[in-house]
Amino acid sequence: MLLKPLKESKIAVIYGGRSSERDVSLESGSMVAQALLNKGYRIVEIDLYGENGSFDPIAQLQEVEFDLAYIALHGGEGEDGRIQALLEMMEKPYTGSRPLACGFAMDKVLSKKYWKGIGVPTPNYLSFNTIPSIEEVESHLSYPVIVKPSREGSTIGINKALNRLEMESALNEALNYDSEILVEQFVDGPEFTVTIIDDMAYPVIGLKPADNHRLYDYEAKYIANDTQYLLPCGLSGPEEECVKNMALQAYRSLGCTGWGRVDVMQDQANGFWVLEVNTSPGMTSHSLVPMSAAHVGIVYDDLVEMIALLAWRDGKAS
Ligand SMILES: Nc1ncnc2c1ncn2[C@@H]1O[C@H](COP(=O)(O)OP(=O)(O)O)[C@@H](O)[C@H]1O
Ligand SMILES: [Mg+2]
Repeated sequence: MLLKPLKESKIAVIYGGRSSERDVSLESGSMVAQALLNKGYRIVEIDLYGENGSFDPIAQLQEVEFDLAYIALHGGEGEDGRIQALLEMMEKPYTGSRPLACGFAMDKVLSKKYWKGIGVPTPNYLSFNTIPSIEEVESHLSYPVIVKPSREGSTIGINKALNRLEMESALNEALNYDSEILVEQFVDGPEFTVTIIDDMAYPVIGLKPADNHRLYDYEAKYIANDTQYLLPCGLSGPEEECVKNMALQAYRSLGCTGWGRVDVMQDQANGFWVLEVNTSPGMTSHSLVPMSAAHVGIVYDDLVEMIALLAWRDGKAS
């Protein structure tokens, strides 16, 4: 079959959505749309959000003509496989991982259970559907611990607990965001993130939140400008290779394709631990994937084109 070049096709940039990461997605979406225009592509923009707060992605996607979907949604149904499944049903190629890989990666408990089984290092944890017995948690994990909802993003509902009292309130808060929560061993050390595009790991970025932010949290990520990014990341060559390989293993094991970003932490004994895989990471001007790509000379517009072309190639091949 002769494939139409992507330049002769129409790309729908899908952004917004109704997840807690809507605002970031609006920024990613407008940057992506501008990059595609700069590169000479024909685009249509779709903000997945009804005029009066109604939400009908099926109707919205069916209303417009397009050949490829560029997903610039973060969190919720834009990242957990539901929008991806809708696009599969419509037989439209789209950027990033397929529905099952997205759902797998979005679910931290499921990912960690799997990684434990295949030997990808991830911090010890317990998972619950209700407030657990504190004694049970204390018999398996030692303070400090991190309490988080299984399927949220952007550090929402995540808290560090240093004692029983803090754990109780952290558990209650996390349960506001998801019916499944996890209590994870705190990793006391620096944080890293690894960009993966077309099954290749890009330069690792070290993250150093300002002291007044307890975690690399929503505010540090998106509002304050006081997070320090280390690129080069400060690890030795062999250590950086180790982090890249671990990230690739975590990403591939979930069946991720196209592109993504893996969060990793280092402990005091220099061991590395995978926290999670993001299948639709931020693409704003200060996002981590563009930063890592820029470090090897891939400017923002080229990066966006690369991700779109990958989807066009893989979507057509399947
Ligand atoms: N086990 C942990 N030990 C130390 N810090 C953690 C741990 N888990 C999460 N964090 C901090 O919280 C942030 C968000 O956690 P993460 O698991 O990546 O969830 P998400 O980014 O989806 O909200 C991390 O970037 C890190 O700063
Ligand atoms: Mg994260």
